[in-house]
Amino acid sequence: MKKILVTGGAGYIGSHTVVELFNAGYDVVIVDDLSNSNPKILDQIEKISGKKPEFVKLDLTDEQGVNAFAQAHQDISGVIHFAAFKAVGESVQEPLKYYRNNFYSLINILTAYNNKIKLVFSSSCTVYGQPDVLPVTESAPVKKAESPYGNTKQIAEEILAETCAVTPSLKVIALRYFNPVGAHASALIGELPIGVPQNLVPFITQSAIGKRGPITVFGNDYDTPDGSAIRDYIHVVDLAKAHVAAIKRLEEGDGANYEVFNVGTGKGSSVLEIINAFEKSTGVKLNYVIGARREGDIEKTFGDVSLSNKVLGWKAELGVEEMMSSAWAWEEYLKANPF
Ligand code: NAD
Ligand code: WQD
Repeated sequence: MKKILVTGGAGYIGSHTVVELFNAGYDVVIVDDLSNSNPKILDQIEKISGKKPEFVKLDLTDEQGVNAFAQAHQDISGVIHFAAFKAVGESVQEPLKYYRNNFYSLINILTAYNNKIKLVFSSSCTVYGQPDVLPVTESAPVKKAESPYGNTKQIAEEILAETCAVTPSLKVIALRYFNPVGAHASALIGELPIGVPQNLVPFITQSAIGKRGPITVFGNDYDTPDGSAIRDYIHVVDLAKAHVAAIKRLEEGDGANYEVFNVGTGKGSSVLEIINAFEKSTGVKLNYVIGARREGDIEKTFGDVSLSNKVLGWKAELGVEEMMSSAWAWEEYLKANPF
C-alpha cells in the first residue's frame, strides 16, 4: 500500500485529507507538532476511518529531527505539506515567526528527502490579491502580498518552481485554495480555531451557538450586488479530495514537474449570501450588524477552476448550504463533546 506523509495532518484541512487518503486506499503518516491542533483529532480520524494514522510529533523547523524522520521513513511515496502558520494578522505582528516556520519546514522536508519526492503544496488564492479579471486563472499575475503570511505562500511557490526547474527528481503540485469552510459529514472533525475566530464561517457558528456576540459584516459598500465582499468558498471535503487527485497526477507523471492549480468552486458568494445560506440550511437565525471594511480585505475573488477540473479530473461537488450545515453540525458536536 502506498504511504503518504501528511505534514500538518492533525490540522483542519490535513485531517480531512487524511480521511480521504484512507478512503482512496492509501496509508498515511502524519507529522505535526500540534502547535495549532489537538491530538484528539487523531482518535476522531480513527472513528471515521476505522484506522488510526501513524503519528510523529515533530517540529518541522528542527532540521536534525526532519532528517532523522526521513531516514526512518524512506517508504513514503509522496508528501502533502500542510504544516504552516496561517493567521494573517499575527503574521503582520510577528513576521519572523511566519517566515521561519513556513520556510524552514518546507526546505527541511525537501532537503531531508534529497529532492527525490512527489509533493503537494498548500498555497492560497491570496497570491492573486485583488485580481484584475474574474474568475481568476492560474496565469494571472501574482500581486505584492498584503501580509508576511501571504508572502510566505508566494515565495514558497518560487522556491518550489526554481528548485523543480533544476531538479527533475522533484515533482510538485501547488494547490491554490480559495476559502475552505465546512466540516466532515460525520461532524467528528472540523476547524478548531484558537481564540476569537478571524474567519467568517467559524465566527458565524460560534456566534450562533452563543460563544460570541453578533457577527460584524465587514463592509456593505463594495462594488458587488449586495455591497458585501465576495469569496469562492469551498467545502473542506472537496478540497481534501483535490489533494488525492493531485497525488494521483504526480504518480501518473503526466505533467510538468511543477504545476499550479486553483481549487475552488468557481462561484463567488457574498458575506450576506453566506449568512442567508447558514440560516436557510440550519434553521438558526443569526444576529449580525454592518460594520466598516476590514483593513487589507479585497472586494471580490473567485477562481477559474477549469484547469483543475480538466487536468486533475476533480470537481467541487458541495454547495454553500452543505458547507454551512456541516460547519454547524461540527459546532454543535463540539458543544456536546468539548475538546
Ligand atoms: P491548521 O493550522 O489547522 O493546520 C496546520 C497544521 O500544521 C497544524 O496542525 C499545526 O499544528 C501544524 N504545524 C504548523 N507548524 C508546524 C511545524 N513547524 N511542524 C509541524 N507541524 C506544524 O491550518 P489549515 O487551515 O489546515 O491549513 C493548512 C495549510 O493550508 C496551511 O499551509 C495554510 O497556510 C494553507 N491554507 C489554508 C487556508 C485556510 O483558509 N484554512 C487557505 C489557503 C491555504
Ligand atoms: C471572508 C469574508 C471578510 C469575518 C483569509 C486569508 C486568506 C486565506 C483565507 C489562507 C471577507 C468577511 C469575515 C467577520 C466578515 N487563508 N468577514 N466578518 O479574508 O477571504 O481570507 O482566509 O491562505 O489568506 O486572508 O477569509 O473568512 O476572513 O473572510 O464580514 O467576522 O468575510 O471581510 O469578505 P478571507 P475570511
